[in-house]
Amino acid sequence: MKMKAIVHTKYGSPDVLQLKEVERPTPKDNEVLIKVQAVSVNRSDWENLTGSPLYARFGGLLRPRNQILGSDIAGRVEVVGRNVLRFQPGDAVFGDVSVRMGGFAEYACALEKTLALKPAGLTFEEAAAIPQGAMIALQGIRDKGKVQPGQKVLINGAGGGAGIFAVQLAKLYGAEVTGVDNTGKLDFLRSLGADHIIDYTREDFTKNRQQYDLILDVVANRSAFSYKRALSPNGSYFAVGGSVSTLFQILLLGPWIRRKSGKKIRILAVQPNLEDLVHVTELCGAGKVVPFIDRRFSLSEVPDALRYLGGGFVKGKVVIIIDTNNHAQQA
Ligand SMILES: NC(=O)c1ccc[n+]([C@@H]2O[C@H](COP(=O)([O-])OP(=O)(O)OC[C@H]3O[C@@H](n4cnc5c(N)ncnc54)[C@H](OP(=O)(O)O)[C@@H]3O)[C@@H](O)[C@H]2O)c1
Repeated sequence: MKMKAIVHTKYGSPDVLQLKEVERPTPKDNEVLIKVQAVSVNRSDWENLTGSPLYARFGGLLRPRNQILGSDIAGRVEVVGRNVLRFQPGDAVFGDVSVRMGGFAEYACALEKTLALKPAGLTFEEAAAIPQGAMIALQGIRDKGKVQPGQKVLINGAGGGAGIFAVQLAKLYGAEVTGVDNTGKLDFLRSLGADHIIDYTREDFTKNRQQYDLILDVVANRSAFSYKRALSPNGSYFAVGGSVSTLFQILLLGPWIRRKSGKKIRILAVQPNLEDLVHVTELCGAGKVVPFIDRRFSLSEVPDALRYLGGGFVKGKVVIIIDTNNHAQQA
């Protein structure tokens, strides 16, 4: 059977994306076939589209490994593989399927273990906006950052997909939060609860003599020594994404800086797990954290959605509505 999907067969700008009729995927024994209702766009989609930074070419140096991007999906189970126990056709589910991607399509397959039931109180588009960004934020703020009330926390890239969750979670844990992003997103950061804001186009937060107990950085692009300078004694810095040279430097110098100064400078490798996904989704359901959706696009408009992201305009998340008849319907 055929389905519509947005396909890319080479790395490049959103112009290389094509709306095509392709074969509908068949779930393996431990997989579920989902009729996708909504899928959010992540920076990782942009990175996998353009093939930059270099780590985005893992498994496909010259040509993309996954020709259909899109990893944060929400939809209804259509077919279950024979070993699948937790779901049945018709269930409303959501999750991060970045292991194989394929969300910019009418149907996508996902491992059973990557999916959770969508809570009745959240729409498909809200559910699709949560997984990747919220997992980065929860594990950065709560698990690695171990944020305590009164601590000073800085989120670099605070207005994007992971940043919005990080700001709100850090506030929830009682921190004094500084959000760094571009000029157009500063009011938005305040509306999310940031106590202080820094415009990265005008000010370098590593040079303003302020120090933070925790820095969570989704766009690491400075030297490891700059980050050391911006940390309070025993403070921690975690890079989530950024330039390959900075990430390498952190890997090489981080342990040495730790021995010399007691300051922790590391890369955060997010471990997807359903317990965390359910926890943060409950916070969203209770209105304690808002999965802020900036704009919605249709499947054929995925290239425009990625242009919008790449252009630096997105506040929070953009979501692709695949099934326009059904997307707001709740489970
Ligand atoms: N470590 C892991 O396990 C893991 C897992 C999943 C994803 N990731 C990575 O995590 C990153 C996720 O980022 P995201 O989804 O939050 O991206 P995003 O939605 O693009 O947000 C990034 C934000 O940072 C801003 N920004 C750009 N340059 C900046 C600078 N120099 N200083 C401060 N802010 C700046 C962007 O604003 P503009 O609009 O101005 O560009 C944007 O608001 C990606 O690189 C992805 O590959 C890591």
